[in-house]
Amino acid sequence: MRIAVVPGDGIGVDVTREAVKTLEAIGRLRSLPVETVHFPWSADHYLATGETVPAGAFDDLARNFDAIFMGAFGDPRVPDMRHAAEILLGARFALDLYVNYRPVRCLDDRLCPLKGFSASDVDFVVFRENTEGAYVGAGGNLKKGTSEEVAVQEDVSTRKGVERIVRYAFEFARASGRKRVVMSDKSNAMRFVGDLWQRTFFQVAREYPDVESSHLYIDALCMQMVKDPRQFEVIVTNNMFGDIATDLGAALQGGLGMAASGNLHPGKVSMFEPVHGSAPKYAGTGRANPFGAILTAALLLEQLGHATEAAALEAAVARCVREGRATADVGGSLSTSAAGDAVCERIEFD
Ligand code: NAD
Ligand code: IPM
Ligand code: MN
Repeated sequence: MRIAVVPGDGIGVDVTREAVKTLEAIGRLRSLPVETVHFPWSADHYLATGETVPAGAFDDLARNFDAIFMGAFGDPRVPDMRHAAEILLGARFALDLYVNYRPVRCLDDRLCPLKGFSASDVDFVVFRENTEGAYVGAGGNLKKGTSEEVAVQEDVSTRKGVERIVRYAFEFARASGRKRVVMSDKSNAMRFVGDLWQRTFFQVAREYPDVESSHLYIDALCMQMVKDPRQFEVIVTNNMFGDIATDLGAALQGGLGMAASGNLHPGKVSMFEPVHGSAPKYAGTGRANPFGAILTAALLLEQLGHATEAAALEAAVARCVREGRATADVGGSLSTSAAGDAVCERIEFD
């Protein structure tokens, strides 16, 4: 496996180190050569050189790597997030990674924050459309800096874009034995894109009579995720609603430090990153939880066809959580690197 690694900023660097450590441990245990090539793109690199991503970099990643692993981006010294837009969103858009695959699975009862529920009640997947919506950067400012300033930010959905993520959600449901897909939008207030999502979703749903399809407005979806997460198996939604719903989903898994994601396009190179950001105040302190990044490495293994290794890595994380061999945010007292070591020590194969 040849993996491009972009640690990025803040705790992105700390957790990526641990995720790579676990991939290398798996590689040794399974005689599966893991080659990593690190790229320095980050706020530091941007501030020092003026470069976010070099020209042609994404073509290089697509051609020469099996997968990309990214940490997190965001630094108070770059308030407009230009580097994050060009590196992280840049990769999603340039590589057309239209599926943002965000499993919401609680690994241990001690992490479940909902009264009266246990870990096994939280087990669903969010498919976030990843190349359109409010993230396309269409818009602008008029009379900027004056009292008459106007700001416009367009929310763009295309038939092709909606259809392919909806279809992916149904295919995933069918292939994984899940029986329900919920589409979530805000079509009561945003008629134009909402109408396209509604028509497309229910048309595609007709091709999957074996899968139950339903709709919830995004505000109601968030409420129901907290009220009773057992009702959800697969959720499909747009770029921004998926971003918000998966931070809530992270809280159901024990916090942002536990949530993993993959940015996919079947047949093309994929990019993997934890759901959390760069948490600048924790950078370099040893307090960042590496488990979200390690579970992201497990998603990478799964997507590259190493399901046994992915399951072993996830099981090792679950064991660490159960034994309290974890960072403070999930009830342990270990540092970031000690938590990564603890996972490596618990990886087992029959
Ligand atoms: P954040 O996810 O960085 O952190 C929010 C809070 O969640 C932290 O203060 C911390 O309490 C907790 N947290 C997050 N990850 C953790 C971990 N691994 N271990 C322990 N606790 C953890 O979100 P934010 O503070 O809103 O954003 C910080 C910066 O990160 C901003 O610049 C933001 O734009 C950026 N961001 C980047 C990404 C990404 O690169 N994928 C994602 C989200 C936010
Ligand atoms: C995420 C992040 C990004 C997003 C930010 C950093 C642009 O919040 O990956 O969830 O909104 O997609
Ligand atoms: Mn987010």
